[in-house]
Amino acid sequence: MTNAYEIQKTARPTAVITGASRGLGFALAHGLARNGWNLVIDARGAADLTEAAADLGRLTHVTALTGDVVDDDHRAELAEAASDLGGARLLVNNASILGGSPPPSLAEFPLPALLDTFEVNALAPLALTQLVLPQLRLTDSDGTTGAVLNITSDAAVEAYEGWGGYGAAKAALDHASRVLALEEPTVRVWSVDPGDLRTRLHQEAVPGEDISDLPLPEVVVPALLQLIADRPPSGRYLASELPVIEGALR
Ligand SMILES: NC(=O)c1ccc[n+]([C@@H]2O[C@H](COP(=O)([O-])OP(=O)(O)OC[C@H]3O[C@@H](n4cnc5c(N)ncnc54)[C@H](OP(=O)(O)O)[C@@H]3O)[C@@H](O)[C@H]2O)c1
Repeated sequence: MTNAYEIQKTARPTAVITGASRGLGFALAHGLARNGWNLVIDARGAADLTEAAADLGRLTHVTALTGDVVDDDHRAELAEAASDLGGARLLVNNASILGGSPPPSLAEFPLPALLDTFEVNALAPLALTQLVLPQLRLTDSDGTTGAVLNITSDAAVEAYEGWGGYGAAKAALDHASRVLALEEPTVRVWSVDPGDLRTRLHQEAVPGEDISDLPLPEVVVPALLQLIADRPPSGRYLASELPVIEGALR
């Protein structure tokens, strides 16, 4: 028998967010949870993910799956978990690695680490998108379809020494986002550069440097929530240039 909790669970929209145990992924997951979204989240580290899921679970239904986005079976589990919740309305490809700390120069980049960098930042997001697209293409009762939000970086467009592997992989993700937007005109495909943030990834890029002047990831969440609510055309956006309507979203 279906109980009231089950009905409520499938009535809420579902977002799949990769890399949501900390940093921007966790902050966005929290924002979506506050605004009534179910969550399917992942990360490789089980302890941090369990803690994040317990926190988010106070606000909404959370399916937390420990795993690596480069793993085929894990990605299939993520898509299936979203399907079990009524189908994903949003896929956020957020999980990311730099390929080393600090990331090596291109001349010295060990090829296995370079391969990992491309797999996590470009190939896995595309592979997960392939699996979730059938859910995102479906039209909701309000006439809208789903959306893909790929988290990119200024390193995809600017040349910074030491950011070549990560930047090239993010550039590949950006380009794939542009092509996907053309091939899937009914689905929104956004690439968003959140700007520099005070997170573990950023600290790993500049070990030993003081990054306490950088904004916390929570700062860009209102802009991302507004984007998701407003559903502007597919394209590449800077979080700092996205409109935020004060008080419109929690
Ligand atoms: N921080 C910045 O200044 C900045 C600037 C521009 C763009 N960005 C982008 O913002 C996004 C979030 O980064 P962040 O700064 O918030 O990083 P973060 O704090 O290091 O968080 C990264 C998250 O991704 C998970 N993750 C990493 N590799 C994974 C994998 N292979 N499979 C599954 N989960 C994985 C991590 O958990 P585990 O390690 O446990 O797996 C963690 O939950 C990234 O796409 C990044 O490129 C960040």
